[in-house]
Amino acid sequence: MAPEVSRTRLPAGLVPGGPLTALAPMQDVTDLAFMGVIAHYGAPDYFFTEFFRVHAQSKPEKHILRSIDENATGRPVFAQLIGEDLGHLARTATELLRHNVAGIDLNLGCPAPKVYKKNVGGGLLREPAKIGEILGLLRSIVPGLFTVKMRIGFEDTSNFDRILDLVNAHRVDLLSVHGRTVKEMYRSEVHYDFIAHAVRRVRCPVLANGNVVSAARAVSVLGTTGAAGVMIGRHAIRNPWIFRQCREAFAGGPVTALVLGDVREYVERLYRATQAPGLPELLHVNKMKKYLNFVGQSVDPTGAFLHDMRRAQSEAELFAICDRHLLREPAQPFAPEPYAGVIARPNCETPSADGCSLESITA
Ligand SMILES: Cc1cc2nc3c(=O)[nH]c(=O)nc-3n(C[C@H](O)[C@H](O)[C@H](O)COP(=O)(O)O)c2cc1C
Repeated sequence: MAPEVSRTRLPAGLVPGGPLTALAPMQDVTDLAFMGVIAHYGAPDYFFTEFFRVHAQSKPEKHILRSIDENATGRPVFAQLIGEDLGHLARTATELLRHNVAGIDLNLGCPAPKVYKKNVGGGLLREPAKIGEILGLLRSIVPGLFTVKMRIGFEDTSNFDRILDLVNAHRVDLLSVHGRTVKEMYRSEVHYDFIAHAVRRVRCPVLANGNVVSAARAVSVLGTTGAAGVMIGRHAIRNPWIFRQCREAFAGGPVTALVLGDVREYVERLYRATQAPGLPELLHVNKMKKYLNFVGQSVDPTGAFLHDMRRAQSEAELFAICDRHLLREPAQPFAPEPYAGVIARPNCETPSADGCSLESITA
């Protein structure tokens, strides 16, 4: 009979025995460059790649493979898949297992309509029977760690328990739960009570995900959910020190306070890290604005930095704006949580046509 629990242990965290931290997978964000920048300020225990698309013609995307093959962070990277066809999922997982992955992760959460209409990502949450087939297949071909990242439902949570039971039946090794339904997208309240329920129902460790905005919030989310750790996405773009701060808070010590001068240094580092041969300056500046949309939420309570930053048309303009807002009073605090009402734009809840991208997702 198949063993009840996984044969493979999760990689030890940076603080053995302590709560885990993970950088959430984010399309167009969690690439090799960004992971390197995050690791510079304090790596999470685990990284996840943005999703590899799986379909008849798919081959693992080269730029995503780089975040595995050239990973110099010292921390393990799980490779995330999105798809529904058993044969193609098996083929892709097998290919990815030839790389230095910590494990294979299945996306059961992407809320972009074009994605869920193909019955992949969050769309699969409507079809527990299909999820059962996919989990069974992937479990049978992944000898090491097999993990799942899910939302709590599609339109409602009526399938939640059934899917959690499938997670148990197929001996998933780690479950990340974003405490919203697909239809709730990114801005509703996070239903931590459902994450707590998952923690009680599944046998594997659970990472709590959704609006973990600060180290203090991470501590409170762990308290209310009983989760083994937290997974953090947008707030790590805003504050790349967050994983180090989480470890400080978990240890009960003081949490490093950041100032605007630190943020100026982060912007510079991110700019240099995301520079790529042949990337035109304006495109690079526009790419930076997507990260800075999140950063700006903690710079000033009026959104003045965001207002100015969005108008930059060149590298020189962008850095002049950064200097004005971040270096005039560099010892001013960088708020640990976003200022109320300062929203990362674009300010709509309609993800781009083909996935979860920075163009489309607000904080
Ligand atoms: C720009 C962006 C891209 C995302 N791409 C992915 C993805 O590729 N795979 C995935 O499972 N979730 C993806 N997500 C969802 C995040 O992993 C996470 O579940 C969500 O942002 C909630 O966590 P947070 O409040 O800490 O940001 C994405 C989110 C954002 C903001």
